Amino acid sequence: MRKSLKSVLFLMMLVVFALVAAGCNSDASGGGSSSAVDVGIVLPTKDEPRWVQDEQRFKDALADSDYSTEILFSQGSSAKEKENVDALLNKGIKVLIITPHDGPAAAAAVEAAKAEDVTIIAYDRLITDTDAVDYYVTFDSLAVGAAQAQYLVDNAEGTDIPLYLYAGASSDNNAFLFFQGAWEVLQPKIADGTFKVANSSEAEALKDTKDLSREQLSQIIGQVTTNWDPNESKNKAQTHLTSVGDDMKGDVAVLAPNDGTARSIADVFASDGAVSSYLITGQDAEKASIQYIIDEKQSMTVFKDVRSLVTDAMGMAVEVLDGNTPETTGTYDNGSVEVEAKQTPVIVVDQENVKAELIDSEYYEASEFTGLE
Ligand code: BGC
Repeated sequence: MRKSLKSVLFLMMLVVFALVAAGCNSDASGGGSSSAVDVGIVLPTKDEPRWVQDEQRFKDALADSDYSTEILFSQGSSAKEKENVDALLNKGIKVLIITPHDGPAAAAAVEAAKAEDVTIIAYDRLITDTDAVDYYVTFDSLAVGAAQAQYLVDNAEGTDIPLYLYAGASSDNNAFLFFQGAWEVLQPKIADGTFKVANSSEAEALKDTKDLSREQLSQIIGQVTTNWDPNESKNKAQTHLTSVGDDMKGDVAVLAPNDGTARSIADVFASDGAVSSYLITGQDAEKASIQYIIDEKQSMTVFKDVRSLVTDAMGMAVEVLDGNTPETTGTYDNGSVEVEAKQTPVIVVDQENVKAELIDSEYYEASEFTGLE
């Protein structure tokens, strides 16, 4: 009898301990110590500065929020992404803000959330082939690609200029938009002999077609994808430069899809003795690329002010939580439905305006760079 009373007491203590421990673990980054989370945020990977920056900008914006939030990273894995969404659903989220690692693969995760009446906001990358997406906050991705291409057109001199094309991951809908935007500007200049494509037989075969179908875009992207991976970019660039003759070197132009891949590709082109100069694009205004631009190792970047995207996403989430309908500016076709979207413009940055756009706007501090005039 005494013994069983002791074990009952012991069990009760265990239960109390477990409850206290559970309460401690569920502390959300933007809220108090309750286990409920209002807004779940899932970002694709910590391995790229772009997304670490989004995390920081979310934290800055959430400091004074009344709603509790939690940010999780998927580390480039759709399985981890689904686990993250499930974990947030268990915490009772009402709104999910998510940048999919892989656009179509994320459908299962958001469908699970939708089944629990959660409002889904796709953040920067669209989730495709599902009707379980309510809103999309994004930059103007066609304009990103067009700005990159226009920079090459405006700054390349002469004709018959070797053009190296690189693209993002084909699992990312944005990679299609960036490339499409770029192609619409580059294609007439390939057709008229200003540029000659150096590294893609698929692009070469389509050089008279301005409006590419998704399938045609896929063919080119499949050949010149970087998978958003700096190492893959480096290897591809090395292979390309090894397999061309000197007629594809000299003064060249390179369409690189973002800053992480641009720096890798630029290093390869810089170390080839037969390349006398290269123009190379980028996007994201990553700090390392701003330094590359100051040092004349990267020609430009497309600045996407993440503060605006975070403000739009959280603004939408709060509208939903308050029972209102968020404002949108257009729609995006995700292959299944027209998703209501809010779009933010982008800014081209090169040596000329880097200080005005990034330092004077207080996006970065001058002390983070060297050689800035
Ligand atoms: C984003 C870019 C980013 C890339 C790689 C794209 O979806 O729009 O800003 O550089 O993914 O992460």
